[in-house]
Amino acid sequence: MEPEAANRVVAVYPGSFDPVTNGHLDLIARGAKLFSRLIVAVAQNVEKSPLFAVQERLEMLEAVTFEFRNVQVDVFSGLLMDYAREKAARVILRGIRAVSDYEYELQMAMMNRKIEPEIETVFMMPGEAYTYVSSSQVRELARLGGPLKGLVPKVVEERLRSKVS
Ligand code: PNS
Repeated sequence: MEPEAANRVVAVYPGSFDPVTNGHLDLIARGAKLFSRLIVAVAQNVEKSPLFAVQERLEMLEAVTFEFRNVQVDVFSGLLMDYAREKAARVILRGIRAVSDYEYELQMAMMNRKIEPEIETVFMMPGEAYTYVSSSQVRELARLGGPLKGLVPKVVEERLRSKVS
């Protein structure tokens, strides 16, 4: 690999993003500074019953990441490592908020390394203001009419409110 090419690192930030939170957005901003290109990849066919359809999650992500010139939003199905290879990514970016995230993330990173040893998982921590923010709690708050300010971008807050009303 040419030295210049070695510096151009494409990273994939995969997840359910149901919906994208300010914690995800914080990580996207950090990842965008570190990598040449960051692909935020919404997983399809994950064994969960999502609140938002993939298309809706994609639209929200596009709305909140448009200011980042090197960030692209996409959908993938099947194995993450197949998708990452297809995109010539060298990094999988994941966020770790607390120790409780670690076990699940470690297992996933190790499995992904077994599938594709050439792609590294890089963990980043969101800003401390977001260490407790999760999509599942945001969905619950929305369902119960709790406050969403500061937890999700405005566009997501509006979509959440109309989804549960
Ligand atoms: O936001 P999430 O739900 O924690 O994201 C999990 C995700 C989508 C990254 C993970 O489930 C995934 O990569 N799914 C794709 C299928 C796959 O490659 N599985 C093997 C990895 S152990």
